[in-house]
Amino acid sequence: MVDLSTIVSLAKRRGFVFQSSEIYGGLASTYDYGPLGVELKRNIKDAWWRHFIQQRDDMVGLDSAILMHPEVWVASGHIAGFADPLVECKACNHRFRADHIETDVCPDCGGELTAPRQFNLMFKTFIGPVEDTASIAYLRPETAQGIFVNFTNVLTATRRKLPFGIGQIGKSFRNEITVGNFIFRTREFEQMEIEYFVKPGTDEEIHARWVQDYLDWFESLGIPRDHFRVRPHNAEELSHYSKATHDIEYDFPWGFGELMGVANRTDFDLKAHSEHSGARLDYFDEEAQEHFTPYVVEPALGVDRAFLIFLMDAYKEEEAPTAEGKTEKRILLKLHPTLAPVKVAILPLSRNERLRPKAREVYDLLRPHFVCQFDDAQSIGRRYRRQDEVGTPLCVTVDFDSLDDNAVTIRDRDTMEQIRVPTSDLITTLHQRLLT
Ligand code: GAP
Repeated sequence: MVDLSTIVSLAKRRGFVFQSSEIYGGLASTYDYGPLGVELKRNIKDAWWRHFIQQRDDMVGLDSAILMHPEVWVASGHIAGFADPLVECKACNHRFRADHIETDVCPDCGGELTAPRQFNLMFKTFIGPVEDTASIAYLRPETAQGIFVNFTNVLTATRRKLPFGIGQIGKSFRNEITVGNFIFRTREFEQMEIEYFVKPGTDEEIHARWVQDYLDWFESLGIPRDHFRVRPHNAEELSHYSKATHDIEYDFPWGFGELMGVANRTDFDLKAHSEHSGARLDYFDEEAQEHFTPYVVEPALGVDRAFLIFLMDAYKEEEAPTAEGKTEKRILLKLHPTLAPVKVAILPLSRNERLRPKAREVYDLLRPHFVCQFDDAQSIGRRYRRQDEVGTPLCVTVDFDSLDDNAVTIRDRDTMEQIRVPTSDLITTLHQRLLT
């Protein structure tokens, strides 16, 4: 398995992820997504949206605001309960999450630790010019609450019947005490969350189905089932709103860790918001002619964590033959074509003047259809390696024969096989190969 430092260095070298504010020494555990990272991240979100929203009859989307009425967080229990136990070293003043350390002395200097105190993880800000308690607002720590408070709006606007779900993708913020492992745990991150509303009594079966749906989705995008494990939370771990939560864990270099959670939130949130706001957040079952509050099954996945596992799982090192008949190490990102940041690289065989116009013509032909990259710097072998390292599934090479026969060579990232196709068939052939 690849170690994290290899991924961090590839991510920086090739423009996937940079340390935020790096020229000022960086800001702890905040990251920026570079030119290839932003493509990969968008492809993950698009794949999720297509699969879980667009292609299902029972799902709709939402994009709610990050800032919400402060009462939302009172009702949801986040003001009272969204806290981690914090301990501080009396000698070096380093702070730790009490449940993340195994000793009762400071892991850094061996000093004495304070007693744990509860530390609320929500970031505070102020709305308007006056910084007083009346103007406090919070950056949302989960996207979920924006869905709950819009339940009746969506129901009325779309006239959905149970079971149905609302999904959204957006930024969340948590003032985490301990961060780390690159983009695994950060203070600003993105979530893809679904709140799936069901009739009470059907919740347990639907909960199990959502866990399976996600495992299938990851597998369809190339991550084998045995890289995951499903772990039910024990009673002490369960969040205040949950009847049962199953974490889908991934086999990270530091051991199995939470990739996402699928929680059975019961009717906790809708009832809490209904009580606090006075608004009706229930459902009328026409068949049974009765009103009830739906239960909610919530699959919640972090975009950045998904990004990390797709990147790590795709990373391979292989021995590949060179033009001189030797072998060399090739680094390969075996990303699923749907996720690959660049789909097609256009490579003139050399920088020869005669090849460039033809290669640019092919580039212009393909750009409206695929995310493409044009590269004519250095030897063709090195350019193939560069594309392998960022996961480009297909390279199109324009050579001197292309000037006469109007055909080009397609080279496959994984098999390194090459086929010759007329440029008139190129778009169709590339589409076909990228679908497999
Ligand atoms: N609405 C439920 C909820 O937010 P969670 O388990 O706290 O549940 C869901 O978060 C997912 O969001 C996590 O499984 C993880 O993928 C991602 N996530 C949570 N905190 C994160 C952090 N500090 N950095 C990166 N991703 C995080």
